[in-house]
Amino acid sequence: MKIRVDKLIANMGFATRSEIKKASKKGAVLVNDEVEKNSGRIVDTDTDRVSYFGELIEYREFIYLLMNKPKGVISATEDFFDKTVIDLLLEEHAIFNPFPVGRLDKDTTGLLLITNDGELNHRLTSPKKEVPKTYKVSLAHDIEEENYNLTFEKGIKLMPENIITKPATMEVIDSRHCYLTIKEGKYHQVKRMFEKVGNKVMELERVSFGNLKLPDDLSQGEYIEIRKEDIVN
Ligand code: URA
Repeated sequence: MKIRVDKLIANMGFATRSEIKKASKKGAVLVNDEVEKNSGRIVDTDTDRVSYFGELIEYREFIYLLMNKPKGVISATEDFFDKTVIDLLLEEHAIFNPFPVGRLDKDTTGLLLITNDGELNHRLTSPKKEVPKTYKVSLAHDIEEENYNLTFEKGIKLMPENIITKPATMEVIDSRHCYLTIKEGKYHQVKRMFEKVGNKVMELERVSFGNLKLPDDLSQGEYIEIRKEDIVN
């Protein structure tokens, strides 16, 4: 992409364009290791190496963040009362204006993808794509494996939407814990599915989304930057 060098540096969050203009006069901007005093110089992000005060500017249009969402935080870009997942981002990531892909309830933890790539968001959340999401579920009562399997396979009617859930698969961990994989994402879906079979979700953690897995060493509230190529769905 061809872009003015001051715009490139500003877009990456290093300074404002007027600050960059001043700094470039003092030799702070290098293009391909040579001082560039003209902050209006057009550079090619594919081939030119730009640095600002010695720091290489790695241009990217889109960012992809994989967060372990903590409890008590809203998966939205802003909220009147509560902290949002965007409030947990470093400034260097927040400047991309990313948003969460889909939603997790306030009390749900686990894998949340955050990006500013609208096309990818659409692809991953489109009901037609049936991207699988796996949740680790802690329940209030013992699991009735056969009964639940039959019901989840057949689908459950959700009201008021008046839709039948797509077949979901359950993998039992122990009497009150299981993994549930669903291929859609209706409001409170997992909680409502277990309510329908007479149980109650006590804790919910999303452990995978499409091909992405929640890394074991990622604590709640932490996130890592991943590449678009890491997301295959
Ligand atoms: N299902 C729920 O009930 N809650 C979530 O946060 C995600 C799926």
